[in-house]
Amino acid sequence: MTTDQLQNLFSVPVKFNGNIAIINNISEHFNQTQTNNSFSEKWVKLDAESSTNEMEVFQKNWVLDLYGFKSLDGLKAFLSDKKVIIDAGCGLGYKSAWLAELAPHATVFGIDFSEAAIVAAKRYEHIPNVFFFRGDIANLPFKKETLDFILCDQVIHHTEDPKKTFAHLSSLLTPRGKFACYVYAKKALPRELVDDHFRKATHNLSHEQMWQFSDQLTELGKRLTELNVKFECPDIPALGIKGGEYDIQRFIYWNFIKCFYHPKWTKQENDSCNFDWYSPSNAERYSPEEFKQWAYNLNLNIDFFRSEEAAHTVIVSK
Ligand SMILES: C[S@@+](CC[C@H](N)C(=O)[O-])C[C@H]1O[C@@H](n2cnc3c(N)ncnc32)[C@H](O)[C@@H]1O
Repeated sequence: MTTDQLQNLFSVPVKFNGNIAIINNISEHFNQTQTNNSFSEKWVKLDAESSTNEMEVFQKNWVLDLYGFKSLDGLKAFLSDKKVIIDAGCGLGYKSAWLAELAPHATVFGIDFSEAAIVAAKRYEHIPNVFFFRGDIANLPFKKETLDFILCDQVIHHTEDPKKTFAHLSSLLTPRGKFACYVYAKKALPRELVDDHFRKATHNLSHEQMWQFSDQLTELGKRLTELNVKFECPDIPALGIKGGEYDIQRFIYWNFIKCFYHPKWTKQENDSCNFDWYSPSNAERYSPEEFKQWAYNLNLNIDFFRSEEAAHTVIVSK
């Protein structure tokens, strides 16, 4: 894409320095600022200390699953007619780079409100069809009806007003464009109460205290996983706990407290996953009906919908 073609996508002039443009690096909202600071802390640390790509492989396979692409070829075929793509809330940008590699004919923009956008731009400066912005996905400089594909994976619930962000991103879709979006699912009552507590309590914890807490959660997850105990739980509707056979770590994880542990991830990747849950102030959860209602309110078609314990995912179009 030439510089003129690039600028033509925007409603205001956007100044790139190499492959990055800073649109905005501060928010007027306290919770969004706290959320951005949390993610800056997480990503800068993870980039510096992470030594494997197990997490990235896991995350990419999850995308294939979550949005019904089934296989890498399925995603490639889906992308074959998409020319302008955004990875809204790209973190370290590995999914932006992945989309750019799978769709070499397209121009991909990875956008993040945290320092991750800068880290991502350095990481992927060798890929010619990917650019990064630091800014708010709730207020992007694209002209209306410019984007052929929006991936907003594990992000929208971290924005100041997720429903409004969803409407903003939808307005940027071309008439045949597709928008793939993920929101956190509401979980059992005890887990929701603990999560709500931490959305506020984290305001008073330093990053160092949050990393200590994350380390304790990883250790709890590890010890429970290593017990390798399964049991049959009764249905407890008053607590929103579904009956059935559970591994003890999964039972505590889904119903009481997030104590993530994946044996193949590095310690830093595991800690980051726990940090990422409890550190940001903005992290709303939704029922499937609440999420679908966002699309109905905007008269969007729901081309794909999937619900699982962690999240609801949707692909919508106009
Ligand atoms: C859980 S991470 C997901 C990152 C990436 N999509 C992935 O799947 O690996 C959420 C990301 O959303 C970003 N984020 C939160 N609110 C944002 C906003 N209003 N605008 C842009 N990015 C935002 C955070 O900085 C963070 O990098």
